Amino acid sequence: MKREIAIVGMIVCIVVGLLVGWFIPGLFIAPTPTPLIDQIKTRGYIIVGTSADYPPFENKTYPAGEIVGFDIDVSQLIADELGVTLEMTDMDFDSLIGACRAGTIDMIAAAMTYNAERAKQLAPSSTYIFVRQVVIVKNSSSLTTITSLDDLVGKDVGCQSGTVMQTELDDITGINVFAYASVDILIQTLDAGGIDAAYVDGPIYDAWADTIDLRIIYSSGEEPLALWCKQGEQALLYEINKVIFESYQDGSMYTLINKWFGNVTA
Ligand code: ARG
Repeated sequence: MKREIAIVGMIVCIVVGLLVGWFIPGLFIAPTPTPLIDQIKTRGYIIVGTSADYPPFENKTYPAGEIVGFDIDVSQLIADELGVTLEMTDMDFDSLIGACRAGTIDMIAAAMTYNAERAKQLAPSSTYIFVRQVVIVKNSSSLTTITSLDDLVGKDVGCQSGTVMQTELDDITGINVFAYASVDILIQTLDAGGIDAAYVDGPIYDAWADTIDLRIIYSSGEEPLALWCKQGEQALLYEINKVIFESYQDGSMYTLINKWFGNVTA
């Protein structure tokens, strides 16, 4: 009898052991997170972050305060493809990468230039447009055309915080770099004579040259701009790239380029 009890006891132990063993990993292994694309579709809208101080890429209309621009129209194409509505969120340019990594925003559309440093933190889309970078001065400035940024040594040069312009200027010893959170303040400071020059993307010159008498003294080669999303969200990145690719194929991207950059000379 003792033997039977012992055998039954052993069997019970084995069965209980197997059951516990079966369930325990589930307690330790995190459940697979829902892909961001599915979260967006369930929620019904995509949150796109931008820094709305960069016409014609993005700016706020006055007095309505609506965010409009090339990047918003491109984002709308992506929202349409996903079958959701578009929600634009405005923040300082240098907060965008952190917000996207934290999941506060699903995508960045902010004329953000591709570079390897950013690609370590977020996933870049394929290039959606190329633009030049320009150093601008007030037309009345005594500064003349330069062939390299090195020629700005000794000068007070402004840029937006967190931009590739800031990185490039900071790399040159002897330039007095002034980084502003907002491009509106940057341009106003240039206009008021607070700095000698400002370093921005080419189309911004055209947008501002209407209201302020400006002149370009330096122009870089064309740089690729990307849309950005969290790393590891392959399905979302695939849809973003598909929209870029197809809009160039069916011509809708050229319609947008013409709409927003039609008069661009820079
Ligand atoms: N292209 C530059 C960069 O990526 C500046 C972009 C600024 N964009 C903006 N929306 N203010 O660093």
